[in-house]
Amino acid sequence: MNLDFTQIVPYIPFMLEGILATLKFVIISIFIGLVLGTLLALCKITKTPFLKWLADAYTSIFRGTPLILQLMLIYFAIPQLTGYDITAFLSAILAFGLNSAAYVSEIIRAGILAVDRGQTEAAEALGVPYKPMMLNIILPQALKNILPALMNEFITLTKESAIVSVIGYLDLMRRAQIVGSDIYRNFEPLLFAGLVYWVLVYILTSLGKVVERRLRQSD
Ligand code: ARG
Repeated sequence: MNLDFTQIVPYIPFMLEGILATLKFVIISIFIGLVLGTLLALCKITKTPFLKWLADAYTSIFRGTPLILQLMLIYFAIPQLTGYDITAFLSAILAFGLNSAAYVSEIIRAGILAVDRGQTEAAEALGVPYKPMMLNIILPQALKNILPALMNEFITLTKESAIVSVIGYLDLMRRAQIVGSDIYRNFEPLLFAGLVYWVLVYILTSLGKVVERRLRQSD
């Protein structure tokens, strides 16, 4: 056995900074995914065939190709097309936000469809216009049912975030690799990164449980 954790001690602050770098873009991406995902979900349940087709095509493309490919397309290929460089941070936000929107749109669509039809019928019978009906009646009820699924999406993105190391973004994973090549030992820094990811996901899962319990109480 050849293990020596003392060597990574001076690098721990450097690696921990990666947590912030990771969380920064994951949180922004989740937000983009939520907004865009809601819009896509609304398109999917409209009676306009074109909007439906557009939202379905979007979902099919973003769920049907690897996230790492989308990320690399945005970072390496778009500059080739446009002549403008794009930072790793912006690429990460875009790739993760756009990708998450596809998954979130399906979650929200299912959530909306699960709200009893009587709610829509009652709102329509009372003459409530579409926008306030969706915003104040249907979406809040849908959101309650799908919160656990959204929390899951947050956890997935947090773990998937490690792939931004391929475009050189200095997240936790990339930093662990850098430390590994600096001290010529990879096991210890990678194990440390694994531990940190596990703790992050553990915190998010616990948070999810608290939210779920609260929601059940209010039922
Ligand atoms: N590894 C999967 C892929 O490459 C993850 C997709 C991201 N998942 C998500 N729920 N946003 O396609």
